Amino acid sequence: MQTLTTVSAMQALAATLGTAGRPVGLVPTMGALHEGHVSLIRLARDRGAVVVVSIFVNPTQFGPSEDFTRYPRNLEADLAACAAAGADVVFAPAVEEIYPKGYSTFLAEEHVAKPLEGVSRPVHFRGVTTVVAKLFNLVRPDFAVFGQKDAQQVAVIRKMTADLHFGVEIVTAPTLRDPDGLALSSRNRYLTPQQRAAALALHQALHRAQSMVAQGERRVDRLIAEATHLLSQQRLVRIIYVAVVDRDSMESAREVLPGRSLMAIAAWVDEVRLIDNEIL
Ligand code: PAF
Repeated sequence: MQTLTTVSAMQALAATLGTAGRPVGLVPTMGALHEGHVSLIRLARDRGAVVVVSIFVNPTQFGPSEDFTRYPRNLEADLAACAAAGADVVFAPAVEEIYPKGYSTFLAEEHVAKPLEGVSRPVHFRGVTTVVAKLFNLVRPDFAVFGQKDAQQVAVIRKMTADLHFGVEIVTAPTLRDPDGLALSSRNRYLTPQQRAAALALHQALHRAQSMVAQGERRVDRLIAEATHLLSQQRLVRIIYVAVVDRDSMESAREVLPGRSLMAIAAWVDEVRLIDNEIL
């Protein structure tokens, strides 16, 4: 496994990667890798690809009062996880490599990015699309893998990729969960045992909505009311949103279309902001 830290080294390698006759698969990450990330790397490897993992805590996707400075960082452990999962290349640049002094170009998708996370984190997706576009240009992958856990992120990146003719296939991997249902997230390491127990309500609410749909419920207001009720029983949980939306456009659904509609939840568990979603 090779580790690169500069833009110029990544560009030089990218020029040769695609010539080996194997597809190039990119797994963009912010590090603090857990089993969810490992599953993305394995998925890329199982497609027979040369696998490039990027590790970059991207400052432009964090709002001024968000957790950029305290976001967990552990490059040594991340490199070991990448090697064990079968990555071929890790690209781990410093902030100044990606955003040198005087940097001033940003890319924003302006429709799918607006609701849900876009309301409470107004600069978030602009930062995500900017850095992902830069990674596509630097790595020149045939496909890139993202986790379904960040459903709106996947939808925004799909739209950006299509709108700008990047010619990169966007592959999604299912959300991995702990045995009790908590979706794996780098931010779970902020949770105390008590907060973690409260955080299970997100998955329980989604699961309840899925069961109601399986039993024939199609009314969005009923599903949202039930999920909201379950979440509000936890003293530590403060709901940011509970929504039922179209999985591609992120527009509010009028009624549930099984397989197309998605319930998305964001909530504060004390001071930790968590999101989760399930296709209904
Ligand atoms: O999902 C993430 O970890 C980040 O948003 C991404 C896609 C690596 C961009 O910084």
